[in-house]
Amino acid sequence: MKYIKSNKYDKNFVKNNIMGPNPLKLLEELLSLHSMTISPTDTVLDLGCGRGITSIFLAKEYQAKIFAADLWITPTDNKKRFDEMGLTSNQIVPISAEAHALPFAEEFFDVVTCVDSYNFFGLDKEYLGKHLLPLIKHGGYLLITVPGLKKDIHDNIPAEMLLSWSAENIETLHDIKFWQQIFKATEEAEIISLQEMLGFDECWNDWLASDNEYAINDRKSMNAGAGKYMNLIAMILRRK
Ligand SMILES: C[S@@+](CC[C@H](N)C(=O)[O-])C[C@H]1O[C@@H](n2cnc3c(N)ncnc32)[C@H](O)[C@@H]1O
Repeated sequence: MKYIKSNKYDKNFVKNNIMGPNPLKLLEELLSLHSMTISPTDTVLDLGCGRGITSIFLAKEYQAKIFAADLWITPTDNKKRFDEMGLTSNQIVPISAEAHALPFAEEFFDVVTCVDSYNFFGLDKEYLGKHLLPLIKHGGYLLITVPGLKKDIHDNIPAEMLLSWSAENIETLHDIKFWQQIFKATEEAEIISLQEMLGFDECWNDWLASDNEYAINDRKSMNAGAGKYMNLIAMILRRK
């Protein structure tokens, strides 16, 4: 796939601020599926936004109002980046938030995006219906990409995977079948699509080329061939 929107962003800016496989490309691919779009009148929560580059992308490319929420990266740190990109607090609001205690009114968002974050907090069947779906308007969308597996391998983890990650880290990675079971438990969520992403090699290569210490650690497994077990999964849900 040609990442026309993502490739407009300065390569060094992207490289210095990503926290996993290239999140701009993941989001662009996700939004290309099922003719998804975001309109300028939409209010969007970018949950687990990290250093906020997907939030910047959403504000700039779609002119929607973005709430950029994260746990590990402070809102002050993210605001500096938003200011540098010329975005105002009318366009993008940095906040500190934990995914189980989101400080928003019910039915506030038209769209929630989670790029490379949902697998840290959404692994139990109750999470979606209890903590996130109520914040989305009826008919609104939850757009997720997660790093995952071709097939769950937790009973017999290949040695290549353990070069970079502990069994506990690997617990956050799952296959499409697992995610289908998780989401099927929430009646109010309609599963529109769960599918493998085309950008696996390109998004991983961008990440592995960065100087982030986690990327350097991930190279051990990926260079040993662990990629054959891995997946990037796009998931689109709609609140009924
Ligand atoms: C691998 S990073 C990805 C960041 C960013 N989306 C990107 O792709 O560069 C995962 C992000 O999930 C966020 N996260 C993890 N657990 C969370 C939780 N319980 N509540 C909110 N955010 C969480 C972390 O703060 C972190 O920034």
